[in-house]
Amino acid sequence: MSASREHFSSRIGFILAAAGSAVGIGNLVGFPVNAAKNGGGAFLLMYALFVFLICLPVMIAEMAVGRNTAKEPVGAFKTLSKGSKLWGAAGFLGVLTPFMIAVFYMVITVWIFGYIALTVTGHLDYLASDVGFGEFINSPYLYIALIAVAGIVSFILAAGVKDGIEKAAKILMPALLTMLILMVVFVLSLDNAMAGVTFFLVPDINKITPSVVNGALSQAFFSLSLGMGILLTYGSYINKQTNIPNSAKLVAITDTSVAFIAGLMILPAVFSFNPEVNPSELSDSSVSLIFTFLPKIFLALQTSLGYVGASAVAAFFFLLVFFAAITSLVSIIEVPVSYLVTEKKHSRKKALGYLTLTAGVLTLFATASFGMVPFFTEFTSYAGGTKSLFDVIYDVFYDTILPLNGFLLCIFVSYRWKKKQLSEELSIGNENYKGSWVEKYINFSLGTFIPVIVLLIFINTVATKFFAANLFGF
Ligand code: TRP
Repeated sequence: MSASREHFSSRIGFILAAAGSAVGIGNLVGFPVNAAKNGGGAFLLMYALFVFLICLPVMIAEMAVGRNTAKEPVGAFKTLSKGSKLWGAAGFLGVLTPFMIAVFYMVITVWIFGYIALTVTGHLDYLASDVGFGEFINSPYLYIALIAVAGIVSFILAAGVKDGIEKAAKILMPALLTMLILMVVFVLSLDNAMAGVTFFLVPDINKITPSVVNGALSQAFFSLSLGMGILLTYGSYINKQTNIPNSAKLVAITDTSVAFIAGLMILPAVFSFNPEVNPSELSDSSVSLIFTFLPKIFLALQTSLGYVGASAVAAFFFLLVFFAAITSLVSIIEVPVSYLVTEKKHSRKKALGYLTLTAGVLTLFATASFGMVPFFTEFTSYAGGTKSLFDVIYDVFYDTILPLNGFLLCIFVSYRWKKKQLSEELSIGNENYKGSWVEKYINFSLGTFIPVIVLLIFINTVATKFFAANLFGF
């Protein structure tokens, strides 16, 4: 199969696809609010340092493993470890994780789709009402939205790497950036917008506590699509002329810039809605922000824009979020697709069929875990609380296994594949790599402090999430 492996047609296509994967709902809503609440400018600076000093080496290593083997996580780990069962299992975790994350991300994307449908049909007032979201997530119409979203994602993936993933990224990413900038310009023209900008940017070093540091690092790690097998799989579709460290740097810059620019949209909007707002009371969760708080802000615009105008702004915003979500979903489902095609020798269409069916059924269950079906709603309990199926998938795969995957990758690359091989791979397409300080930094950090830090995050998450114990005081 690898002889006929498809490739991205251009470096920019690859960068846009990888950035499309990284830019998601978290960048647009979660990041701005977290940054504003947790130290403003000081948080931003710390976040940027984490992205470049800790996350970028991991991203580069993932891409290098992918390009070197021209395989997805299972095949890549097996090939480079010369068939080790243990590393094969680590690779399998790298395929199972994206599959499960796809399920919970799909649920949220389906909701976004529903919000677009309801705003364009004139129901913004309902979504902004106190009962709106609670009723919405239990509506049987969601299943129609699920079919629509699954259809769009399958349609893109069925067309392949070049004509599907790359083409979608080339259309959706520029559209997303343009829409984001238009939204920023619009929001900045509202009353009191500048108070929001100030709140977002003015540093407050006192707010940087150990738990904020931990949160910032986890957020940077997740936001860049690390530990999901995505960058490894996308890396397997790039050619030998591509300069990996440079491309990875551009992906990280794009992802971080979008998160930063989104702050210039969200915080001013919050302040223009309510200049008296105390942002430390804003919810931490992207979900409640997007689905319950923002509709109220959009509805308030009707005093100046009228109901139709306010609905149009809301629909525009949800469409922007939808584009961000679709490119992330596509990237994450490509990992199991690639596994079935490369390792199990299925045709792409058949692989997609299996996955749409299995992920679709699981998404159905997860969608029903907000009250519709008691079995999924009260699925289990740990750390003193009842957890729905959705919570379990989120806690186990997104919060816990991702850092573990990151840790395994660092150890694998440094001590099994070996740094010499990594350097060889990275110097292809980048003649100046060998002997550079970038090489020295990557080789040193990947074998020492990065895995240690990521492992600490993993242990801390397991302790807090599942045993309600806080080991390190953060
Ligand atoms: N940056 C994404 C977000 O903010 C998180 C993410 C990265 C993601 N890669 C992904 C989510 C792939 C789903 C699929 O939401």
